[in-house]
Amino acid sequence: MIPNDGVEGTEQTAIEPFLTGRWEDSSRVTLRRITIRDQDEFLELVRASVDLHHPWMSLPTTPQEFQTYLGRFDDPLSAEGLLVCVRDTGVMAGNININGIIRGRFQSGSLAYAAFAPTAGQGYMSEGLGLVLRYAFEQLRLHRLEAQIQPGNHASLKLVQRHGFRYEGYSPDLLFIDGAWRDHERWSITNTMIGIVPSVPHPSLPIR
Ligand SMILES: CC(C)(COP(=O)(O)OP(=O)(O)OC[C@H]1O[C@@H](n2cnc3c(N)ncnc32)[C@H](O)[C@@H]1OP(=O)(O)O)[C@@H](O)C(=O)NCCC(=O)NCCS
Repeated sequence: MIPNDGVEGTEQTAIEPFLTGRWEDSSRVTLRRITIRDQDEFLELVRASVDLHHPWMSLPTTPQEFQTYLGRFDDPLSAEGLLVCVRDTGVMAGNININGIIRGRFQSGSLAYAAFAPTAGQGYMSEGLGLVLRYAFEQLRLHRLEAQIQPGNHASLKLVQRHGFRYEGYSPDLLFIDGAWRDHERWSITNTMIGIVPSVPHPSLPIR
């Protein structure tokens, strides 16, 4: 991670391997952590994306909601809030969060993501998810990521299928979305499925 640049609230905003191009040189996107400085652009893009996000995703629409949302990522040991940005322009193409990180025998996390309308449907989220998988498996040394997706959300299903996630099952009434408990499919991917296994396991993984 890059060091604190001295501006309050902006410490550790960039994910260094992506900025330096050590990974995915050909990628059209980069990843970085969301910060308070992203508030205005983020809110503007969320407002522009209401039709794309409804009824699948609800993101903050006011500064107060944004700041509450940012609070979820105060402890990066339990959740990471990442932005997928277009490399050439720096504009935000979408967000991908790794929520509910559990260490120990799980080494798992739960994905939540949304594209922003102006740049949706161009493959940026697919590339961003590829970077998130590498970040999660190589740097965070997680073992498994799960996405919970409503059966009618075809764009989201295509996104995870493009990366080789496997269908694990169906959970009735799993998540409260758009005012009701919604059934979801569970799709997951493990580090071994894409051949990224850390040479040194995360220290919280039991030896046996
Ligand atoms: C799910 C969601 C994030 C997918 O975003 P997206 O912008 O469609 O995803 P991508 O950037 O990967 O774009 C995929 C499209 O770009 C096309 N594309 C163009 N160039 C591409 C490239 N280089 N690589 C991959 N796809 C490319 C693909 O063919 C695909 O088009 P298609 O849908 O017609 O097949 C978006 O639909 C969304 O925000 N939905 C609402 C929120 C939501 O549902 N979140 C998930 C809840 S489970």
